[in-house]
Amino acid sequence: MSRVPRRKVTVIGAGNVGATTAQLIAQTGLADVVLVDIVEGLPQGKALDLAEAAPVIGYDVKITGTNDYADTAGSKIIVVTSGIARKPGMSRDDLISVNAGVVGSVVRAAAAVSPDAILIVVTNPLDAMCHVALRASGFPRERVIGMAGVLDSARFRSFIAEELEVSVRDVRAFVLGGHGDTMVPLPRYSTVGGVPITELMTPERIEEIVTRTRNGGAEVVALLKSGSAFYAPAASVVEMVESILLDRRRVLPCAAYLDGEYGISGLFVGVPVVLGQGGLERVVEIDLTDDERAAFDRSAEAVRELVTILPA
Ligand code: APR
Repeated sequence: MSRVPRRKVTVIGAGNVGATTAQLIAQTGLADVVLVDIVEGLPQGKALDLAEAAPVIGYDVKITGTNDYADTAGSKIIVVTSGIARKPGMSRDDLISVNAGVVGSVVRAAAAVSPDAILIVVTNPLDAMCHVALRASGFPRERVIGMAGVLDSARFRSFIAEELEVSVRDVRAFVLGGHGDTMVPLPRYSTVGGVPITELMTPERIEEIVTRTRNGGAEVVALLKSGSAFYAPAASVVEMVESILLDRRRVLPCAAYLDGEYGISGLFVGVPVVLGQGGLERVVEIDLTDDERAAFDRSAEAVRELVTILPA
C-alpha cells in the first residue's frame, strides 16, 4: 500500500522565533516540521532536541533540521523567520537592507521546490519583508501573508486583561495598519465578553494601553538587551498555521497585499482577513471613523515609504 506523505510545514530560521514556532507546530500534531537555517548544525541540533522531547510531550510528527532546501520540497506552508533580530536602540526600519537580502534569497530557494506553498512572513520590518517575499516567490497575493496583527492584538489583549483583571480568553482586540510605530489599535472593536473597552475604561487609560501596545516589541527588546520577542510571535504564527491547515477560516488581523480594499492598492497593510486552506480567502473591510481612517492612512503611508527604500 502506498502511503500519502504527511503534510509538511517548513520553518526558515532556526533562531528564537523559528525554533519556538517549530516546537509549537509539532505540539499541535498537525504537520511534519522542517527547520532550516544557514548555520550548519543549528537546525539539525534543535530538530534532534525537539524530536527527543516528543516521547515526553506526546507528539508524533517528524521534525527534520537541514541546511538544504531540497528537504523542504512539497511544503504546504513556509514560515520565514530568518534574518537578524532587532537590537536595543535599533528601529525595525534599520533592519531593512540586511533582512531584504536574506528574505529574498530564502524565499527564492524555498518557493522553487514548494511552488504551491503558502508563505507566512515573520522577519522584520514585516510589511516591507512581505513585499520582498511576494516578489521573490512570484506567488499570488493569496499565498503571501505577514504575521503582525495577531501578535499586536495579542499584546493589546494581554494588557486589557491585566488592567480589568479578567481572563485573556474573553478579550478580543483589533489592531490595523503597519507593524510599527504607526500601528492602529481599534478600541471600538476591542471587547471584553462582547462589551467594547470604551465602556469599561477611561479614554486616558485606553490611550496608555494603546501606547504600550505600539511599543510592545521595543519593551521586550529593552528588557532582553539582546534579541527580541519570540514566545508571542511564535504562538501568533501557529494560530495562522492552524487556521490554514484546518481550513478554519479564522478572521485574524494579518498583513495582506491590498488590491483596492480600504482604498489601497499594491501595498501590504495589516487588515482583518479570513485565513483558510487557500491562504488569504478574503479581506474583511470594516467601517472606520474619520480619526481611525486618518491613522490607517498614515500607517499605510509609512509602509509605502519603507517599500520605496527596498533594494531593487
Ligand atoms: N538563511 C537561513 N537562515 C538565516 C539566514 C539565511 N540567509 N540568515 C540568517 N538566518 C538565521 C540565523 O542563523 C538565525 O538562526 O535566522 C535566524 C534568526 O534567529 P534569531 O537571531 O534568533 O532571531 P529571532 O529572534 O528568531 O527573530 C527572527 O523574526 O520577529 C522577527 O524581528 C525578528 O526579524 C526577526 C525575526
